[in-house]
Amino acid sequence: MGRIGKFTTPHGTVTTPALMPVVHPGKQTLDVKKLGAEIVITNSYIIYKNEELKEKALKDGVHPLIDFPHTIETDSGSFQLSVYGDIDITNEEVIKFQEAIKTDIGTSLDIPTAPYVKRSKAEEDLAITIERAKQAAEVNEELILNSVVQGSTFPDLRLKCAEEISKFDADIYPIGAVVPLMEMYRYADLVDVVMYSIRGLPEDKPRHLMGAGHPMVFALAVAMGCDLFDSAAYILYANKDRFMMPDGTLRLEDLIEMPCSCRVCCEYTPDDLRKMPQDERAKLIAEHNLHISFAEIRRIRQAIVDGELMKLVELRCRAHPFLLDGLRRLKEYQKDMMKLNPSSKKNAFFYTGEETLNRPEVLKHQKQLENIQPTSNSLVILPHTRKPYTKYLNKEYIKKYTPEIVSYYTNSCNLDFSDADVVVADIPFGIIPLGVDEFYPLAQNESPAIHDEDAKQFMKKAICDYTNKYDNILIHKKIVDKYDLDLTDEYTIVDAPITLPDAKISDFDRLKMIADYQFGTNAGNVLFGDDPDKIKIEKSRKTGKIRHVFEDKQNIVNMRANDGFLILSDLGAKRLHEAFDAPHMRVVVAEDAEEYARKGKSVFNKFVLDVDEPIRHNDEVLIVNGDDELLAFGKSLLSSYEIKDFNSGQAIKTRKWKN
Ligand code: GUN
Ligand code: ZN
Repeated sequence: MGRIGKFTTPHGTVTTPALMPVVHPGKQTLDVKKLGAEIVITNSYIIYKNEELKEKALKDGVHPLIDFPHTIETDSGSFQLSVYGDIDITNEEVIKFQEAIKTDIGTSLDIPTAPYVKRSKAEEDLAITIERAKQAAEVNEELILNSVVQGSTFPDLRLKCAEEISKFDADIYPIGAVVPLMEMYRYADLVDVVMYSIRGLPEDKPRHLMGAGHPMVFALAVAMGCDLFDSAAYILYANKDRFMMPDGTLRLEDLIEMPCSCRVCCEYTPDDLRKMPQDERAKLIAEHNLHISFAEIRRIRQAIVDGELMKLVELRCRAHPFLLDGLRRLKEYQKDMMKLNPSSKKNAFFYTGEETLNRPEVLKHQKQLENIQPTSNSLVILPHTRKPYTKYLNKEYIKKYTPEIVSYYTNSCNLDFSDADVVVADIPFGIIPLGVDEFYPLAQNESPAIHDEDAKQFMKKAICDYTNKYDNILIHKKIVDKYDLDLTDEYTIVDAPITLPDAKISDFDRLKMIADYQFGTNAGNVLFGDDPDKIKIEKSRKTGKIRHVFEDKQNIVNMRANDGFLILSDLGAKRLHEAFDAPHMRVVVAEDAEEYARKGKSVFNKFVLDVDEPIRHNDEVLIVNGDDELLAFGKSLLSSYEIKDFNSGQAIKTRKWKN
């Protein structure tokens, strides 16, 4: 769910994920703009309560006051409310004050309800927060407006709040009252709070995880869809001689070496720092803390582009058992993650531990497997070899293990498996039909040889689910042993001669299976018919992989080399459009955009009237008008959920008609 975004304010453009250092309007010592801050956050209530600051801010604006020329966000005093129980400013006053001091992003006076309070308390507070969000939107004239999600630790209240405040005209949706959860290391509860909040928020607005300032949690929070963080922690930790690191916190008193390679860590030794006056030292440690925090943000952005955010999340969450609790809790939200997960990513999928089984790719594969219909009532399940499997599996390989093959659920004595479907069993994806073994991420993944208990359980379920469709199943003994399959009642070791299938799969059958897997059941027939002689397949001379597919010199599809996806050409698009009813694969564009789409121009989000729910980033789509006429075809740049919510930017990269 992580994304890279940009938003523009009167004082500049902010790239997200972003960290907003907290700047104290009265006693800031560190120059955060020199350290790379594009945006900072300060507190309008502190300014309001101090006559000198107030006068200066009202006269010149908040930017000169804190000496920061770029985007400034201000908070409203809600946090003071949660700490001191009372403040003397109203919601309307604080909005008007933030306008008067010319802040870029302002915040209404939400009520941060503590975690684990009584439900009645959470509901009472929430009613006020929602009412104030509505009022803020009404009275606001100048501000980019924050509207904060509250609801304590009640997931349904978080969802309700998010849905309600999304109806008002706000620009950024912070998630509030999570500081106590983080202070208590209750990361699993944090995951519940954030995921339910995000479920109710629109995709086209940034979300700010309020008070999250430790780089340890950034990756996890970004993976849940948070875009903005604020850090007072860099200075608070520094005041206590603590060094923040992406995998925890270090105390100066313990250090024999400086922990990183920032300016401070290169120029000073721990002893130098220990000998310094406290305030001088704190300023230097704060600089380190901010440097490390920005570095983590940069690393996260790179990981998003590389398709490796979850790998980073899994790494970070291993730094603390309670973060691991948070990561494990994400399992409950696989379906939310699937709504936004790209269909194909740049880099390989790495298994880093049993939590990897909860990633959306794994569930998506189980769903897409249902697109592939059995072609026989017999199935042979082989252990994995090197990838791609088809390259390393052959009849000799299977024969070699014949005496070890055990039959499973075999209710027939017919041991002729020559026509059986052949699949491989492998972690983390479970059952992989040979025809799709080069499709992302089924080839582009690595996992260790020995598997833990969760992986074994996962494989048992995958095998049971898949074998339901077959009467006769042969399973290799290696699989039974490796995954501790407890099949005592269901299997017998086959000691009779068996006629085995060939694990070689023809290019034609492979194409059809990939089409079914990628586009839906029967897409293979629709695209390629059932006469292999009519279809001409061109392969890469270098890799031997399928590249172009023709019928009567007309291009039907091409295969993308890096992920094995079928890319539609004119004929392919027409055939799928004709055979599959709307809304399957459709992106419906408005009348004013029809002409542009026909000419092969990109489709912009604001012109999309409707989009098929399963469409994700990197999927092939059919671009149609309101009467379901095929205008063009192309590749989606976003998920259907994003396309529905976004009002600007590109949705679909259109391909040109060749004929
Ligand atoms: N800062 C940290 N938590 C909160 C919150 O819940 N609301 C506001 N307005 N500011 C915060
Ligand atoms: Zn450092």
